[in-house]
Amino acid sequence: MRFTRRGVLAIGGAAIGAGAATFAATRDTGPEPVEPKPAAAAPSPPPPRPDFSKLASGDDWDEVRRQFAFSSEVVHLSALLIASHPAPVRARIEEYRARLDADPVQYLQENNDRLRDASMAAAAKYLAIEPKHVALTESTTMGLGLVYHGLQLKPGQEILTTEQDYYVTYEATRLAARRTGAGVRRIPLFEDIDEVAEPALVERVIGAIKPETRVLALTWVHSSSGLKMPIRKVADALAEINARRAEADQVLFVVDGVHGFANQDATMESLGCDFLIAGCHKWLFGPRGTGIVATGKRGFRDVMPTIPSFTDGAAWSAWQKGKEPPDSIQTGWGFMPGGFKAFEHQWALAEAFAFHERIGKAKIAERTASLASRLKDGLADIAHVRLVTPRAPELSAGIVSFDIDGFTPNAAAKRLREHAIVASVAPYARPHVRLTPSLANTPAEIDYALQTIAEIRPPQTATRPSGKKG
Ligand SMILES: Cc1ncc(COP(=O)(O)O)c(C=O)c1O
Repeated sequence: MRFTRRGVLAIGGAAIGAGAATFAATRDTGPEPVEPKPAAAAPSPPPPRPDFSKLASGDDWDEVRRQFAFSSEVVHLSALLIASHPAPVRARIEEYRARLDADPVQYLQENNDRLRDASMAAAAKYLAIEPKHVALTESTTMGLGLVYHGLQLKPGQEILTTEQDYYVTYEATRLAARRTGAGVRRIPLFEDIDEVAEPALVERVIGAIKPETRVLALTWVHSSSGLKMPIRKVADALAEINARRAEADQVLFVVDGVHGFANQDATMESLGCDFLIAGCHKWLFGPRGTGIVATGKRGFRDVMPTIPSFTDGAAWSAWQKGKEPPDSIQTGWGFMPGGFKAFEHQWALAEAFAFHERIGKAKIAERTASLASRLKDGLADIAHVRLVTPRAPELSAGIVSFDIDGFTPNAAAKRLREHAIVASVAPYARPHVRLTPSLANTPAEIDYALQTIAEIRPPQTATRPSGKKG
């Protein structure tokens, strides 16, 4: 396979970056294949290693890829874990850092409000909501902790969540219940992931809602199985229940959105939940240590701040005048945790949204889906692999989870790393190996991963001729 085309990504009429590129061959130009070792040694030889910097698409995405400073010695298929910053984000962080280092006090005093609000406005624009409906945080975990802690629950009320949700939702809801005397109920979302379908998922969740359910806590895209929940369909069904309830009893829909955020083409309106919480340092490739809480039409009125806000004028002036501030906050400025920040990161968040919007949300979602489908289709054809993530696009996003016969997930990830592929394993009770294609990957990288996985054999079958299932 040879790529000779110069890829230029036209972004709003301009091109990202200026680098001209002529791409030579991909995996066929790698070093010579390593000779298989004797049977007792490593079970399968590493496949020929390409120069990963040259595993190009030969299309517009190569310009996007060139914005990253990824090492070319490995294939990065775990962008979901922690972001590498693309060039415009790196440049902004460096710029703000230099200015802060030169004169931290004056630069902060003169620019913080403007730059912080620009990041809030960028997040709001991305989700098609008003800036006052966004609060900046430092991670998904912080956002979930603040929301569940801030909900004014009462004994007799409950949070409904699922057995498949991540540790952060589990723990944040558990702590909220302990503090308030409310209950938490966890239901299984499915018995067999191979059988999941949107209507059954919606029915399972909605059917479990009781009169005392005040909060529904779900995850958009599961980091164990890669399952994407039909958030909008759940929200629509919930709206029918809420229409029959007094406002104080309505079910608030809180979503850990981190693994759909910035790889799906969605807005708060299209999702329909009340709170969407995400880190911006994963699929958005935003500054590390940034995140958001976004709200729907109800805004922030159902939550109290946990950490004193530095951006709530009413709270400051009440304190200065020795008065009580209003009990209810209405905006992200009131909810947002105060304290001094890694300001250069918080301010550079606006650049990450701009980067995504220049490429286009829909294009990013299509690219992610197409790479994930290529990976899932290939994995489904490998006899010693069990694909966990549903293949249907409506039930999956960018996370592709699977098991390899004869390997624990951690051993499989280690083996992939030996073959220069960065996989990950989420710390669930029932873990799986994950590869998570993103806008920074290419079809050739997916093919390299598939070829490698096909050649990996469980240790006990190491001496068998290749091509046979272990
Ligand atoms: C579903 C889910 N929620 C939350 C988190 C934690 O995200 P953060 O590092 O932004 O706190 C993770 C971990 O990656 C996750 O998989």
